[in-house]
Amino acid sequence: MKKATCFSDRHYEIGEINEKIFSSFTEHLGRSIYTGIYEPGHPDADEEGYRKDVMGLVKELQVPVIRYPGGNFVSCYDWHDGIGPREKRPRRMDYAWSSIETNEFGIDEFCRWAKKVGTEPMIAVNLGTGSIKDAGDLVEYCNHPGGTYWSDLRAANGSPEPYGVKYWCLGNEMEGSWQAGHLSAEDYTKKALEAAKIMKWVDPNIKLVACGSSYEMLPTYLEWDRTMLNELYETVDYLSTHNYTMNSGQGTTDFVAAYKQLDNHIKNSARVIDYVKAQRHFEKDLKICLDEWNVWNFQDIKLDSLDDLQGLTTFEMTSAGKWEVAPPILQEKYSLLDAIVVGGLGITLLNNADTVEIACLAQLINVIAPITTIKNGGIYKQAIYHPFHMLSRYGRGTAMKAAVDAPSYHCGFGELPIVEPAVVYEREADQVRIFVLNCDQEEEVDFHIELQGYGEKKVLRHLVLDGKDLEARNTYEMPDTVTMREAEVQNGESAVLPKLSWNVIILG
Ligand code: AHR
Repeated sequence: MKKATCFSDRHYEIGEINEKIFSSFTEHLGRSIYTGIYEPGHPDADEEGYRKDVMGLVKELQVPVIRYPGGNFVSCYDWHDGIGPREKRPRRMDYAWSSIETNEFGIDEFCRWAKKVGTEPMIAVNLGTGSIKDAGDLVEYCNHPGGTYWSDLRAANGSPEPYGVKYWCLGNEMEGSWQAGHLSAEDYTKKALEAAKIMKWVDPNIKLVACGSSYEMLPTYLEWDRTMLNELYETVDYLSTHNYTMNSGQGTTDFVAAYKQLDNHIKNSARVIDYVKAQRHFEKDLKICLDEWNVWNFQDIKLDSLDDLQGLTTFEMTSAGKWEVAPPILQEKYSLLDAIVVGGLGITLLNNADTVEIACLAQLINVIAPITTIKNGGIYKQAIYHPFHMLSRYGRGTAMKAAVDAPSYHCGFGELPIVEPAVVYEREADQVRIFVLNCDQEEEVDFHIELQGYGEKKVLRHLVLDGKDLEARNTYEMPDTVTMREAEVQNGESAVLPKLSWNVIILG
């Protein structure tokens, strides 16, 4: 058995973890909204058509913020289509996903649902095909108390109280040619600045998220952010970036090491922020909003690597028949290995708590998601549900610095220790919670924990995500094939980490 020691001293903090790093995202895409969140006539739907089984799991995940309505969808979307009497709402072609959008579900339905599940909406405005005036009008519709055209219309549509939406995204992935109305960094900067101005005139209390660059294969990667932040730094509150991890046959070792790739990606965005801040002598700090992250294996189409996405339109990114309502696309079936990788990515989020303030698992229901619903049927948890749930449940508190003394392994990201931990201190419960990935595929690791300054602490619980079959997946019929299991605790300062496993160790 290999040995590793993890050191953490109560005096060395990374920072307070913003609970918004356990947020998520739902787009008008595939079956995310229709037959996901919303399915009137379903036996478990409430009086407004929301599925109660879905609401139950979303509540269990304790998702603080949910981003809506896209994604690529938002750049083709006119929010006016989704308000008012349903029978008058237009059916439109959604160019982003070559689907039919019935508009039965819109901003009112989303904000009411968000309230029911106890989450805050984060709304993206259309800066692709949409206008800056549309963006301002939407803020007025959502947030103005009354006495104006749009706020009175909201009241007439059944919501006299403003929704008070605080977080607003200035478009989505505007760097990419796949985006309807894609702009150069310079043109995006001008449009986003003017949209931001109007949106903040309507409601000065809102927080704005600017599109940064996400795709490392694009020639504009990071240069886009520098150009844009030069003008927008003082106006916006967050820099957005997206990061998807793909198992494209690069081998289990490199796939498991994706936590390191995400770490590099986050640090790259943070470096541009620091550069612009220093170069322009700005005072305030800008935080990162990682508003899309997940494992996404593109099971709908075969890609050898994420680089192959370049040049593809979103039409080509799915095998869906064109122009259907809520086609069953991007319905990834996650494996145990994917779940372990998602757990590793969560460790990176915790270890970057000083720069990442919002992070959205993309997505939430049916589409590259932890929750799967059967149309007119039941619901089950994908394998990735479990690490995300554990992170949200036990990952709140203070992120602590951790050092490890462990044997190393070689991967595409260099020489790394075989264990990757994140240490969280939760003051109220006076507990230390350690999330740790054992990357060794052959051997268990005797994981010793040396804590300083926390008072006497013993291992109380040890939860494990592991298994013999890395390809195991949950199904509706066998929903608990992949789940967390409780390991035996030795009630000391050590735990045995099974080979290739993701672990949550609670000390108190
Ligand atoms: O989450 C699926 C898609 O991935 C989103 O629509 C887009 O923003 C990203 O490319």
